[in-house]
Amino acid sequence: MTTQRPLALVTGGSSGIGFELAKQFAQNGFDVAISGSSDKVFSAADALRGLGVEAYPHKADAATYDGVEGFWTFVTELGRPVEAAALNVGIGQGGAFVDNTLEAEFRLIAINITGTVHLAKRVVQHMVPKGRGRILITSSVSATLPTPYETVYGPSKAFGFMFAESLREELRGTGVTVTALLPGATDSQFHKNAGMASSAIDQGKKNDKTEVARQGFEALMNDVDHVVGGDEETKQTVVDNRVTPEPVKAARHAEKTRLRA
Ligand SMILES: NC(=O)c1ccc[n+]([C@@H]2O[C@H](COP(=O)([O-])OP(=O)(O)OC[C@H]3O[C@@H](n4cnc5c(N)ncnc54)[C@H](OP(=O)(O)O)[C@@H]3O)[C@@H](O)[C@H]2O)c1
Repeated sequence: MTTQRPLALVTGGSSGIGFELAKQFAQNGFDVAISGSSDKVFSAADALRGLGVEAYPHKADAATYDGVEGFWTFVTELGRPVEAAALNVGIGQGGAFVDNTLEAEFRLIAINITGTVHLAKRVVQHMVPKGRGRILITSSVSATLPTPYETVYGPSKAFGFMFAESLREELRGTGVTVTALLPGATDSQFHKNAGMASSAIDQGKKNDKTEVARQGFEALMNDVDHVVGGDEETKQTVVDNRVTPEPVKAARHAEKTRLRA
């Protein structure tokens, strides 16, 4: 069915921050195409339809070339311009680098970096000729500090932040905007999925995912280059991180992320 509503895509839109981003789009009059790796994506789409919009779910593994390309093919086959794209999917990997498998580290890089570049390429080449579009890349506060015991994760999010800022400048004047969302620790399944249930960061205070997504959506709509997602304390952390030496931040972070027996 064709609607007059604009279309947004959200990767990792089946739960956590991505689902909340999809809700923001739906509540603001967008139809949404969402991806996820499990059947949860279908029930998430049902919930989004309950908000009065069309929701198009696609199940695929964002760690693979075919999974990313398959989602883009699915979206383009809807036959509608993509007005907004939230490149949100990402995974964590807790534990010590010396212990984690190389496969696990490569999987994280495939989803957080390679997959983001892959889908961004498709989205940018779709939006620029149309002269309009909005791209949101979910990075993290982790982009602003060393992240021991998430030693590959934090740098993958630093990539996302600087990728977004770089692309934003390149696309200036094309009608296509790029915004980075840097959430602090947020109440989703993220840390448990990363094997970090025993860490202080998973057991500590977290930001509300609905509020984080609202801040990201608002920044996207207002064409802000980046926004820290979370409460005032979270935002202040990023300000402090600009002037705190890396070894100091690294030692503090290790206290939060080291797994407990
Ligand atoms: N939560 C935090 O504390 C936090 C803080 C800063 C930044 N972030 C960033 O926010 C983003 C979203 O994280 P979240 O907290 O919402 O995590 P989450 O609750 O674990 O949700 C992750 C989403 O990604 C999907 N996903 C995971 N692996 C996938 C794969 N291989 N293929 C396709 N989809 C996959 C999941 O779908 P399935 O469940 O169906 O697999 C789910 O929809 C990530 O980029 C993360 O780095 C999170």
